[in-house]
Amino acid sequence: MTSIGRGGGAGQAQGANPGFARGRRLRSTPALRRLTAQTRVAPADLVLPVFVKEGIAEPVPIGSMPGVVQHSPDSLRKAAHEAAEAGIGGLMLFGIPAEKDAVGSQADAADGIVNVALQQLRSDLGDELVLMADLCLCEYTDHGHCGVVTPAGVVDNDPTLDRYAAVAIAQAQAGAHVIAPSGMMDGQVAAIRAGLDSTAFTEVPILAYAAKYASGFYGPFREAAEGAPQFGDRSTYQMDPPNADEALREVAQDLAEGADAVMVKPALPYLDIVAKVAAAVQVPVSAYQVSGEYAMVEAAAANGWIDRERAILETLTAIRRAGAGQVLTYWAVEAARLLSR
Ligand code: PBG
Repeated sequence: MTSIGRGGGAGQAQGANPGFARGRRLRSTPALRRLTAQTRVAPADLVLPVFVKEGIAEPVPIGSMPGVVQHSPDSLRKAAHEAAEAGIGGLMLFGIPAEKDAVGSQADAADGIVNVALQQLRSDLGDELVLMADLCLCEYTDHGHCGVVTPAGVVDNDPTLDRYAAVAIAQAQAGAHVIAPSGMMDGQVAAIRAGLDSTAFTEVPILAYAAKYASGFYGPFREAAEGAPQFGDRSTYQMDPPNADEALREVAQDLAEGADAVMVKPALPYLDIVAKVAAAVQVPVSAYQVSGEYAMVEAAAANGWIDRERAILETLTAIRRAGAGQVLTYWAVEAARLLSR
């Protein structure tokens, strides 16, 4: 048996085989490693999800996401300027209204928190950052589900589509560059496209949260967005974690309905899905590194168990390596600064 290792095979003269692949040759200096890196993460690939809450004067820290806050409208404007300065690609906005109701009225109210924030950011920043509006009802409904519910407590698909179309128009009107539906209702992309096309917003693209799993990794987000379901869970509309083919079906369906770009969510536990989707489509694919992924690294780092910055950059590299073009991450601004060092 030939042992292949450093210094050549046993009994094999050094250099006897000119084709002997030596992986280590290209790893010997930082400059060589940098030159031959197959995957790069650039600040422009990163999108920062942000939360803006109605009725607060100061930002409110989120306990389960150290370093992330619920913004006041003013602190959001400041954070958005810093994000632009850091060179990231965009923001994904989530609003937390003071008043919630059964249909999530504040999602499409012109003076609703998210629409006011979009207006301010668009007038502050123009087209400097891509302003994406998360389109869902769970932050706006008193029951915390992503759509309207029947008296029996079932999330009602088709009436929800009418709400989504109205919200999309309101968000586009407020200045969103991209509408990003995350509710996982069937037919949501078609309904939103039809809504936008019936108004002046035919040029506003849709980034579909196409393959969004019912994930335990959303836990901290529900503290951040105050959108935890008051009964039941989301497993009748979000995808079941064991399924991969279904992700490709969801993506194909969303593209057929008019999605301009698609997303896989969460990211790290679903890199196989990111890779499959990226191989299957010819549109931009983003991956959402969700709150629980963030919290895991922060918690381990706080305990001194891992090297925080190294772990952050490694996760982002892995998500890009799997095939995602864009990465939504709560570390977007910090990572952009690390990458520009
Ligand atoms: C709302 C929504 C959720 C996330 C993004 N949009 C929560 C959920 O579906 O329960 C999760 C983001 C995160 O965990 O960082 N539909």
